[in-house]
Amino acid sequence: MRLWIVAAALLAASGAARAQPCDVRAFEPCQACHALTRDAGQKPGPQLAGVIGRPVAGDPAFDYSPALRAARAKGDIWTRERLDLFLADTEAVYPGGWMGSPPIRDAKLRADLLCVLGKP
Ligand code: HEC
Repeated sequence: MRLWIVAAALLAASGAARAQPCDVRAFEPCQACHALTRDAGQKPGPQLAGVIGRPVAGDPAFDYSPALRAARAKGDIWTRERLDLFLADTEAVYPGGWMGSPPIRDAKLRADLLCVLGKP
């Protein structure tokens, strides 16, 4: 009986952890080049406001590489899956793209990034 109570308490606690806000530290290295707001001023990369569900190369103020412009012309959208692959290996998804950021092999870190990027 006792064990069940402990297990239930643990389950409740893990549920609470899931409901917590995203780990925004994951986005710190990206901030040098990207902003999460539309009025971000000049950065070396496009703004990423609402990027999940947005067309690839969807910042009208940014001059994208031919690779990303071709993807936009094809109608590619940033789904979670595509974004996860892009962060894991940019070159594999859009060869010749200009994002000079190292591949992120850590799935937990990518999940944190998707969490941050998924906020409106
Ligand atoms: C050194 C600068 C730099 C860093 C650091 C960087 N990026 Fe980028 N990022 C770019 C550039 C430049 C592009 C545009 C690439 C192109 O045109 O091919 C881009 C494109 C993107 C896109 C596609 C945007 C769109 O509108 O289609 C996403 C998503 C993205 N970056 C996410 C990230 C994330 C998440 C991080 C942190 C892990 C990160 N970037 C780190 C420079 C950077």
